[in-house]
Amino acid sequence: MPVPKLVLAYSGGLDTTTAIKWLSVEQGYEVVALNIDVGMSREQPVVESRGMAAGALKVRIIDAKEDFIRYFAFPALAAGAMYQDAYPLATALARPLMAKLLVDVAHEEGATAVAHGCTGKGNDQVRFDVGIQTLDPSLSIVAPTRENAMARDYQIEYLRQHGVDIPWAAKGPFSIDENIWGRSAEAGVLEDPWTEPPAEAYEWTRDAEEAPSAPAYVEIDYQSGMPIRLNGEELGPVAIVERLNELGGIHGVGRIDHIEDRLVGIKSREIYEAPAGVILHTAHRSLEAMTLSKQQVKLKKAVAIEYSELIYNGLWFSAHHQDIAAYVASTQRHVTGTIRVKLHRGRATVVGRKAAQSLYDRGLATYDRGDTYDQSAAIGFINIWGLQTRTQVRTQLLADLPDALRIAMPQDHAEQGEK
Ligand code: ARG
Repeated sequence: MPVPKLVLAYSGGLDTTTAIKWLSVEQGYEVVALNIDVGMSREQPVVESRGMAAGALKVRIIDAKEDFIRYFAFPALAAGAMYQDAYPLATALARPLMAKLLVDVAHEEGATAVAHGCTGKGNDQVRFDVGIQTLDPSLSIVAPTRENAMARDYQIEYLRQHGVDIPWAAKGPFSIDENIWGRSAEAGVLEDPWTEPPAEAYEWTRDAEEAPSAPAYVEIDYQSGMPIRLNGEELGPVAIVERLNELGGIHGVGRIDHIEDRLVGIKSREIYEAPAGVILHTAHRSLEAMTLSKQQVKLKKAVAIEYSELIYNGLWFSAHHQDIAAYVASTQRHVTGTIRVKLHRGRATVVGRKAAQSLYDRGLATYDRGDTYDQSAAIGFINIWGLQTRTQVRTQLLADLPDALRIAMPQDHAEQGEK
């Protein structure tokens, strides 16, 4: 019988390096180690040499940064997708792309199985498994860490016993996942929700107190909801995100400390850093305020919650997502314009906005000269607008409560008044 082939999502860390050895020795696979670079990943030569040392058939490295931002992060930005109003979804957005690439490479390599290094406690296993199952249900999925969790010391020992001698750095104090859209830290002292995150929990951002006293300003151009320029300079999506991460980080922007609800029912304490994500979401929301009607703004807010949950819960490849994405894309037709953001000591504040097709009409808004709004028309409008309320008060409410004012009062106030 030929040896079955498997494609493993490979980070170059201890868990997935051990997985290469374990999958070959204990499970009898030929392992193709697939390293997907969505930003912030290890040096290529390090990944390659570790993978080969652990016995991979080959190590393949795919630079997926551009696709990640263009087809995953920016559409989520246009949708306003922030899980639980806090998390810009960096890890969650990368998983479906990784699932897709795992399946593609499995097909190219003639593999019958794929593997990832997720534990059984988190969301990432769900995102990988559901994505893979959706894209190719015939592939088997192996999750060595979930099936056979090994302590760190044991993993190092296991590799050594199999002749793999890699000098592993000491374990860091947190569990980190990062890509170009954001960094997350969990575990260690962060598990105590009362404990303030120590300085070492952050890597991308300065403490606001140590940020420059002078603010920085950045102008972001959006075209149909997608960022295309910074300070007038046309840039690709990756460059935009990289520059804003750097600039935001210097000014302490983008730190998030959140108690999050995982899909598997666990609440977990998460420390995120996402300077670009926070700046771009803030600016985008402000541009929508200029260019969408109030009904569009309102429905879009509800859709953003739904969108963030489907991403978080691993349903990227679904008809539901296609439907929502079509709605979001349609709302972005006129979301084109420039937003000026001030970055200062931990805050990103919109201080200017302009859009060629803005719905903001200064002639209508002004209290100065040049008013184009017909104030006398307000009287007729209010007469009609208040009609149903007047009718109801006259026929029903006045009869129940002589003092019509009480209708508007909370119950306990009304009762206190009675004493
Ligand atoms: N809680 C986030 C999510 O589910 C991030 C998880 C990242 N993993 C980690 N080991 N820090 O998307």
